[in-house]
Amino acid sequence: MSKPFYITTAIDYVNQKPHLGTAYEKIGADCLARYMRLQGRDTWFVMGNDEHSTNVEKEAVRRGMVPHEYCREMSGVFTETWKTLNISYDDFIHTTEERHIRSVTELFSRIEKNGYIYKGKYEGLYCESCEEFKVEKDLVDGLCPRHKQKPTKISEENYFFALSKFEEKLLEHIKKNPEFIRPKTRENEIVNVIKGGLQDVSISRSGITWGIPLPIDPGHVIYVWFDALTNYISALGFGGDDTALFDKLWPADVHIIGKDITRFHCIIWPAMLMAAGLEPAKSVFAHGFLSLAGEKMSKSLGNILDPVKMAGVFGSDGLRYLLLREVPFDKDGDISTRILIDRYNSDLANELGNLFSRTLAMISKYLGGGVAEAPFDSSCALHGAVTDAVAGYRKHMERMEFSKALGAFWPAVQSANRFIEEKAPWALARDETKRGELAAVFSELLAVLRTAGSALFPFMPEKMSAMLDQLGAGGPSLDELPPSVSGAEGLSAPEPLFPRIQEKPEEIFKE
Ligand code: MF3
Repeated sequence: MSKPFYITTAIDYVNQKPHLGTAYEKIGADCLARYMRLQGRDTWFVMGNDEHSTNVEKEAVRRGMVPHEYCREMSGVFTETWKTLNISYDDFIHTTEERHIRSVTELFSRIEKNGYIYKGKYEGLYCESCEEFKVEKDLVDGLCPRHKQKPTKISEENYFFALSKFEEKLLEHIKKNPEFIRPKTRENEIVNVIKGGLQDVSISRSGITWGIPLPIDPGHVIYVWFDALTNYISALGFGGDDTALFDKLWPADVHIIGKDITRFHCIIWPAMLMAAGLEPAKSVFAHGFLSLAGEKMSKSLGNILDPVKMAGVFGSDGLRYLLLREVPFDKDGDISTRILIDRYNSDLANELGNLFSRTLAMISKYLGGGVAEAPFDSSCALHGAVTDAVAGYRKHMERMEFSKALGAFWPAVQSANRFIEEKAPWALARDETKRGELAAVFSELLAVLRTAGSALFPFMPEKMSAMLDQLGAGGPSLDELPPSVSGAEGLSAPEPLFPRIQEKPEEIFKE
């Protein structure tokens, strides 16, 4: 039996509530997790919150709360958002949890025992927003390019991790595992960084109390990234009493992250694992960023979109579909409210929604709600289009090319709508001698709708379940797509699946 598929996302700092970019990552990961499960693959999907950051502590203080209490409150905000968006994680880890602390302590101790930790002095720059040690060449005009902030000068006695000892091993690992860093552009970037020479990294901070104490020197806390990265194994019980999940699931099949934290995941994290005698993850997938009407979304520009509000307009499934359709997962992409509304109205309201509504309405009106079962094979007009759509869809889903998968599938929906126009069932229905032809038209249309219900389920779980339900088709499945026979009984005209959106773009979303 193959190993269960283990998927993770980045864990989020909780000093602000989730924004659209955060949601985009989770939606992509969820789509993959649902696709794997739909194929019958045992799947484990973990997300979580990154709590031991100085920024989190500061935000708690600003609100007059103790950090633990603040983190608990924010945990509710995050998990509610993920519930609204139908994110089907199996476990949610918080870095302040006891199981995580044990795991970080154990990982640190193993690395230390293996001789890769030493005490030294760090003198240099630190960006508190990235929680990252910086060197001059990382800066643009003296500022952190990501946060446009001046990094703080720090001079501390720290413990260091001997990252420089892993240059060769990392390069070898990347070479041997062509899937380790995806997409390829990120691999080239990482290989160049490693070839340029790796410095040892500070792995503890002193003078800070919000964090996990260093097992060998409780006057220090473990550096927040060392702490955070370990979530991928702490959530599996590493270092605890029950390591069954770790034994079964590690190494992770894919860490899904934003492209700006690739170095942490493709250099520091695999080196930490190697130093502890553990295997690195099989693959890291770095997704791109969303921009809004050509502008980076940021607090200062006031153009941060709230995924919960957007789900209120498009429906959670509508939002999931739009983001994954509009922006290729591995690249940066621009969206605008106009583009999203237009895409929703054309793809979902007009094409898919309408195909579903009118097919069922006509079956109920002309055939009393029943279609005799008939083979769906190469003699059918829509068979070729649906077969091609499924093949393209599968190929792209395997590679996490969600936008392309939808693009490959959609011609089946469009062909089915054209087929209705060509066959004009309303005319066939007036001719008693055409009953057989009429039923055959709807048998084909039902085959397309059933296929769509299953293939699109990972993108739109709620709507596609409702659609399959009303088609009397049971749950989604990729086992036999397209189906070889098609027919149904007891169908009735449905409520619209995707009601048209009438709002003007400027009327929605602003915080
Ligand atoms: N909290 C970090 C950020 O938002 C991401 C941590 S991901 C982990 O940039 F790998 F470290 F877990």
